[in-house]
Amino acid sequence: MQKMVLNLGDKFPNFIVDTTIGQIDFHEWAGDSWVILFSHPADFTPVCTTELAAVARLVPEFTKRNVKPIALSCDSVESHKKWIDDIKAYGKLNGFDYPIIDDEKRELAVKLNMLDKDEIGAAGLPLTCRAVFIIDPHKKLRLSILYPATTGRNFAEILRTIDSMQLTDRKRVATPADWVQGQECMVQPNVPEEELASLFPGDVTNVELPSGKMYLRKTTF
Ligand code: BEZ
Repeated sequence: MQKMVLNLGDKFPNFIVDTTIGQIDFHEWAGDSWVILFSHPADFTPVCTTELAAVARLVPEFTKRNVKPIALSCDSVESHKKWIDDIKAYGKLNGFDYPIIDDEKRELAVKLNMLDKDEIGAAGLPLTCRAVFIIDPHKKLRLSILYPATTGRNFAEILRTIDSMQLTDRKRVATPADWVQGQECMVQPNVPEEELASLFPGDVTNVELPSGKMYLRKTTF
């Protein structure tokens, strides 16, 4: 498979893969949902075990937001299924309700450009990094983050970004630093002054700044 460089807004490629819930056509499986695809270097590794448990615990939060999680790890389905027992035991979980892709041949890791040349595994090959791809219901790539294999992800942050994207798809706002659901946000800079009253009736506060430029306009939603 040829390596792809994916930019935000690109159509996320389709693929047919084996997973712990059987073979899937990725786009068909995604349906009308958002998807978070997150990758792992290998099964039975400590940080990955904590991450998969964290996502399993958050499945109700993802479901509430119409998001389907799917993991990828560079081992077989048979290995993944044994690993799930460890993940459930570690996370004190009764279930494990999302699929893990079999990428034993590292085909998707190569295609989606997820290898970290600075992290070499036992076999002497670059490890798959911890990639996060968030794909919207139109199959567009909306967010990507690459973490090195030695740094576990913060899934509260991933949920926060989904809240932001879903809100800013609906309203002409942008979310500030460290924003979480329910807090004030900013009117997008391209909203002209004349449209404020109709878009945000009685709900825009201009923050005065030394420049005198009125670009920091706060609102709620
Ligand atoms: C881990 O999941 O713990 C891990 C995997 C590869 C490299 C470093 C850590």
